[in-house]
Amino acid sequence: MKNGIFYFTGTGNSLAVARKLAKSIGDAEVIAITTALREEKIELNYESIGLVLPVYYYSPPNMVKEFIKKLNFSKTHYVYVVCTYGGMYGGVFNVLSECIKNSGGKLNAGFSIWMSGNYIVEYGAFPVAIRKIQSGWERRRVRIIAENVLAKRNIEFPKGNFITKHYENYAHDKVKKFGAMSVNFHENGSCTGCEVCRKICPSGNILIKDRKPIWGTNCEQCMACIQWCPQKAIEYGKVTQKRKRYRHRDIILNDMMLD
Ligand SMILES: Cc1cc2nc3c(=O)[nH]c(=O)nc-3n(C[C@H](O)[C@H](O)[C@H](O)COP(=O)(O)O)c2cc1C
Ligand code: SF4
Ligand code: SF4
Repeated sequence: MKNGIFYFTGTGNSLAVARKLAKSIGDAEVIAITTALREEKIELNYESIGLVLPVYYYSPPNMVKEFIKKLNFSKTHYVYVVCTYGGMYGGVFNVLSECIKNSGGKLNAGFSIWMSGNYIVEYGAFPVAIRKIQSGWERRRVRIIAENVLAKRNIEFPKGNFITKHYENYAHDKVKKFGAMSVNFHENGSCTGCEVCRKICPSGNILIKDRKPIWGTNCEQCMACIQWCPQKAIEYGKVTQKRKRYRHRDIILNDMMLD
């Protein structure tokens, strides 16, 4: 394989993009960052290395940062990132560029794709009409990104605007608090004990006891558990009770299973 595409996802947006990108680029392997992190050593036997991930408070997910720390880039690698986001990506590319530099590489290109927001703690699924527009946008962006990657173009990555710069410190502080934020998750009485939440949690943060989930303090805030629970049995505090769940339409539960 000439091209490696590593992804992290909570609701499938980044996985859907990673797969479509692999198809457009060709000769590509799509690898879950969660799975790769279990390996003692992560080999980078690729010419091009892509990282596809969601933006969390203008930052990459903590697990993605941890993953990049474990990589040994060489100067011959073509490295690019694709950030999927719901509204504003802020300075996420700066953060990623710094992480990649610290692991011996250079961020050659940074791309963004506007997709449905999935942070149900703040809002429910975007309206269908907007999601339709976003699907078309996603297809066009993937095509453009693939062309650039195939040509190994160096593309300056986008920077945050004055609004996101103003909130950057607040946003980055939030990310540092993610671990314990799962204390707000609870089961609402409709749980069947199917263990889907435990199986799809990327950080192994959910235990099942007496056929009910229990959350630990190692949360990535990816929203996979609450968005994918087949019974809609998970809530976050009181704010999610009436909010519509969201998952990318091309991704099925089986794609999210980690064991
Ligand atoms: C904890 C959290 C924080 C988020 N912060 C941002 C943000 O700062 N800016 C933004 O545009 N979208 C934000 N989002 C939305 C996601 O970036 C977006 O929905 C992404 O495409 C989800 O990808 P996934 O389905 O691969 O997990 C956030 C989502 C979560 C769960
Ligand atoms: S996925 Fe939902 S129904 Fe299944 S164990 Fe978790 S909370 Fe219960
Ligand atoms: S507990 Fe839920 S939100 Fe937190 S990392 Fe696991 S699946 Fe994601």
